[in-house]
Amino acid sequence: MTTDVIAIDGPAASGKSTVAAGLAERLRIPYINTGSMYRAITLAAMRRGVSAANCTEAALAPVLERLQLDYVRNDAGHFVLRMDGHETDAALRSAEVAALVSPVAALPNVRAWLRERQRALAAAGRLVMEGRDIGTEIFPDARFKFFLTATPEERARRRLAQSGENFDGATLESVAAAIAERDRIDSTRTVAPLRPAADAVLVDSTGLEVDEVVNLLARKVME
Ligand code: CDP
Repeated sequence: MTTDVIAIDGPAASGKSTVAAGLAERLRIPYINTGSMYRAITLAAMRRGVSAANCTEAALAPVLERLQLDYVRNDAGHFVLRMDGHETDAALRSAEVAALVSPVAALPNVRAWLRERQRALAAAGRLVMEGRDIGTEIFPDARFKFFLTATPEERARRRLAQSGENFDGATLESVAAAIAERDRIDSTRTVAPLRPAADAVLVDSTGLEVDEVVNLLARKVME
């Protein structure tokens, strides 16, 4: 059995979100960014006093118990993330959230909580889902799996250029260091570490325009 999901995984700032959104648009199917779900949990945890010093399953349990996270379809048919009934905003992309999200995402109870919700989303039909473990853990039987990479230099350049990310006073070096630290935690955690699924198509997007990558993925899907 295969699940009608197009899984796109890869390290931080590899262009996954842009490519996933572009591919979904091209195929006229919805797109889910699972990184936003981890960021929303992280923001909720920070608001309840969780920091790097006390980021544990026990500290996250009451946060998960109260948090309501769901995707609703807007008029354009896109899935929009709601946190406790409100649309999320730029706060999810802050440097503070970025610094705490990987430790939060390494906690088994956080991953189990999201796994259930992410799997339920596929019941709505064909969609593109993007993250770190979609092809390995969430949908090992996804119909299509892509693993997107780019050199660390290119990823740091892209992240710095991304207006949505709020890195005050950031330099190429500091952005590169923050990304490398996130990748290190994401790839070495015990539960669902970042790695390509054995049957994923590896795509190195270094030096490619967004459209070129979207075309490449769309061709594979149409084949
Ligand atoms: O957009 P960017 O590449 O910076 O990252 P993101 O997709 O917003 O994900 C933020 C963080 O959430 C990652 O660094 C992971 O720690 C975590 N994450 C995860 O563990 N599993 C996923 N499926 C998606 C995100």
